[in-house]
Amino acid sequence: MSDEGSPRSEVFDEPKVELHVHLDGAIRAQTIIDVAKRRGIRPPAETAEELRQLLVLHEPFSLTGFLAKFAIYMHIIAGDRDAIQRIAYEFVEDRARQGVIYAEVRYSPHLLANADVQPLPWDQAEGDVNPDEVVRLVNRGLRDGERAFGVKVRSILCCMRHMPSWSASVVELCKKYRHEGVVAIDLAGDESLDCQAYPGHMLAYQEAVRCGIRRTVHAGEVGPPSVVKEAVDVLKAERVGHGYRTLEDPELYARLLAQNVHFEVCPISSRMTGAYAGDFGQHPVVTLRKDKANYSLNTDDPLIFDSTLQLDYGVAGRHMGFTRQEFRRLNICSAASSFLPETEKKELLLQLYRAYGMTRSTPF
Ligand code: ADE
Ligand code: ZN
Repeated sequence: MSDEGSPRSEVFDEPKVELHVHLDGAIRAQTIIDVAKRRGIRPPAETAEELRQLLVLHEPFSLTGFLAKFAIYMHIIAGDRDAIQRIAYEFVEDRARQGVIYAEVRYSPHLLANADVQPLPWDQAEGDVNPDEVVRLVNRGLRDGERAFGVKVRSILCCMRHMPSWSASVVELCKKYRHEGVVAIDLAGDESLDCQAYPGHMLAYQEAVRCGIRRTVHAGEVGPPSVVKEAVDVLKAERVGHGYRTLEDPELYARLLAQNVHFEVCPISSRMTGAYAGDFGQHPVVTLRKDKANYSLNTDDPLIFDSTLQLDYGVAGRHMGFTRQEFRRLNICSAASSFLPETEKKELLLQLYRAYGMTRSTPF
């Protein structure tokens, strides 16, 4: 039975899967203030509320303008062991509060470090934290959080568009920690940068393919369909971060639909970064829903959008007419497109089917 238009369609209070959320875009404002005080760093604001006022985008902006927000606080967290472990732990607690039972959280190990990739011992100052240690700290925070809050969380390591020279070490970290919670590689940052002259990202993704590291790429968020094409054809992305502009190229869209490529959609994010400027009622995800595409709903950077996953679902329910049935279908798609190993994926799917009172053969 459809519940389209009923009040129930506005809230989805059943277990959810989140596949696209940045750890450094999901930090609690209070944590930034606490860490700044402990480290004796002058905080950008005195209280969490004032900090939120500084960080939060209140109206649509640009992707580059939005990315500049990270510079306001990243120096406070980066290179601090307790802070890195704490934000990972709190991330899990916050997902539990939002009804998430499985999340894949992504971050750039280099942006959370304060030392080079593999510094020579005499180059590394006492106390410096390199990207390898960042991954271990995040793993520890996530694992402790999983135990405390009963949410399963895996991580995705990000290459950054503006730093092709980091990508080789990102894929090496994916390989090194693949049995300790790291499930995939991503490429994030400013899509308008043309990195063709630098083979760093391409070589890293080739190595990921060779070693069976799973792959997603931010593409078609603000960049044209050619960036999506490059992501799937050259970088061999199995999922696309955002991907909205794929719809401008009907042939490409038809191909990705036929290949069941997963779109990691972030409704509120898309509005605030200027990736989608229109009315929510005509958002690209409405077309994805109509075409029964394989996609998820995600927050992306809840700190900067002052959002929660419930708010993103609320937007889909209220402004796009999403039904409970579609919410369940997209969560099943999300679980099926997660980067978990097959047996764990089956368990997650079973957990969802049970929670939704469905079986595998229940039609959508
Ligand atoms: N890093 C954090 N959020 C991002 C986004 N929406 N696009 C690209 N890079 C990001
Ligand atoms: Zn993102």
